[in-house]
Amino acid sequence: MVIIENIYKSYSDFSISALNFKAKKGEFLSILGPSGSGKTTILNIISGQEKKFSGTVTIQDNTVEEAIEQGQISMVFQDSLLLPHLTVFENIVFGLRLKKIKKNEIETKGMKILTLLGLEDLRERFPNQLSGGQKQRVGIGRALIMEPLLLLMDEPFSALDGELREKMQNLIKKLQKTLKITIIFITHDKDEAFFLSDQIIIMEKGQIIRKGTPIEIYSQPLSFNVASFLGMENIISLNKFSILFPQHPKNSSTFIKEQIKENTFFIIPSERIEITSSINTNIENIVYSKGILKECIFKLGYYFIKVNISGLLITIKQNRLPFSLTLEEEVFLQYNFNDLVFIS
Ligand SMILES: Nc1ncnc2c1ncn2[C@@H]1O[C@H](COP(=O)(O)OP(=O)(O)OP(=O)(O)O)[C@@H](O)[C@H]1O
Ligand SMILES: [Mg+2]
Repeated sequence: MVIIENIYKSYSDFSISALNFKAKKGEFLSILGPSGSGKTTILNIISGQEKKFSGTVTIQDNTVEEAIEQGQISMVFQDSLLLPHLTVFENIVFGLRLKKIKKNEIETKGMKILTLLGLEDLRERFPNQLSGGQKQRVGIGRALIMEPLLLLMDEPFSALDGELREKMQNLIKKLQKTLKITIIFITHDKDEAFFLSDQIIIMEKGQIIRKGTPIEIYSQPLSFNVASFLGMENIISLNKFSILFPQHPKNSSTFIKEQIKENTFFIIPSERIEITSSINTNIENIVYSKGILKECIFKLGYYFIKVNISGLLITIKQNRLPFSLTLEEEVFLQYNFNDLVFIS
């Protein structure tokens, strides 16, 4: 439905090159990346605001210009700049009034959007009488009333905090499923992208460094840059492999040599490690290493534990402790060899 092919775009000190991706009809696609990675630049290209670039953008078989002409694209920004002299209702239906649509149809469509966004009671308020979250809902309503095929959102919730932000995320996810629109959503918040998206594109310095479903990206980050951007724990150089697994049969030089041809690091997912006080060596694929307990902190439902294994500090995330832990005492870490993730 949206096809981005071979996009090149450069500013004096920044460039996007050979960018390719697709968003299917009805898909929620997030573009995730640090500040300055080129997210807004891409969105501006798709929305037609940026015209100087090479490559092609196709929206349901149309060029960007054709898609705009047919009203197929709507946008929501970080700050919804509402018209200050118009009420909530009038702000929402503004685009319909410009299209000279019949009054009763405007009333029906406007009310439907107000209800959908829970704004009925605020219908006659002016923008300066609204909270940030309410303004943002009006901004979304104004975009949705045009019944776009494609909704582009540039960090729409980044000015909102905590609970409100979560509410808005739930709302947009629900709306997208009900209305079956395609959304391209920009964020630099990983949790937001993982919660909302069917597909995620991770950008770094104008390049796509990973694309896939949230599960694919988490279970196979493929590169050090992706894993560290996602804040994964226990990214360890392959050179240290034998320090961690001195007894394991896979700790043979041939296995390591094979891995080193393609990879540089491995990850032990912190939630897949178990902390034990003894070893049961009869289970296939289960690996142990011995270390000293250095830290054990409880945070919102999880224990974050750090264990020093011959100078390597390994982080473990557990929702319960199997036995009472004492700092500076010896413990064993147990992992399934198949849970290890190798990355380049
Ligand atoms: N009109 C412009 N002229 C020159 N450089 C620009 C222009 N617009 C953007 N840039 C540069 O391009 C790079 C990417 O900018 P962009 O706005 O796409 O980043 P972003 O990923 O959206 O960042 P943020 O998360 O901070 O919004 C930045 O280095 C920026 O300074
Ligand atoms: Mg931006």
